[in-house]
Amino acid sequence: MKRMIVSMTVGLALVLATALVPTLASAESAQSLRGKLALSEQKSPPRAPKLKLDQDKFDRNFKTQPPLVPHKVAKYRVNLKANRCLKCHDKANYKEEESPMVGKSHYMDADGKEMKKINMGRYFCMQCHVPQADAKPLVANTFKGTN
Ligand code: HEC
Ligand code: HEC
Repeated sequence: MKRMIVSMTVGLALVLATALVPTLASAESAQSLRGKLALSEQKSPPRAPKLKLDQDKFDRNFKTQPPLVPHKVAKYRVNLKANRCLKCHDKANYKEEESPMVGKSHYMDADGKEMKKINMGRYFCMQCHVPQADAKPLVANTFKGTN
């Protein structure tokens, strides 16, 4: 009986070992975006992509994509007290400022009811809207827009 348990344990260990080998091998061939650097080494930051501002607006890739920002944003502050973006894009001022109004969805509550003020979930614009840039995909992909 004892011998049988021993050989079963050895057998199990063998099965596990062979099952693990391919996983280890493929983990080794996978390349991290950091490149072949030891964990303790610092990678120099990648170059920021070139912004493509004040020219044609980039097409949206799908209907519900947040449109990219076609102008500079670096100096526009958004904090608890002030929101520079809303000074031009809010429902109340957009006409005077000759700017497009923020999406209608930005004035809806969770039940889809219209609110007077912007939904605070949409307050920090740059969570979703980023300036247009000539950014190459980080990894190859076959995504095609649906628009
Ligand atoms: C001084 C006024 C002004 C301010 C401040 C401003 N914008 Fe704009 N924004 C505009 C105008 C004007 C356009 C339209 C440009 C065009 O159509 O070429 C625009 C376009 C956009 C668009 C593209 C809309 C579309 O339908 O494609 C987005 C997104 C946007 N702005 C986001 C922002 C965000 C985010 C901020 C704050 C960081 C901001 N804007 C601050 C005036 C402003
Ligand atoms: C949670 C993500 C999110 C945040 C935060 C957000 N937006 Fe949007 N925005 C979207 C999406 C998605 C769309 C496109 C669909 C739509 O209109 O709802 C959009 C559309 C827009 C448009 C184009 C509207 C149109 O009719 O074509 C403008 C302008 C805009 N947003 C400005 C802003 C500004 C300014 C802020 C900050 C006050 C902001 N957004 C915050 C996701 C967001």
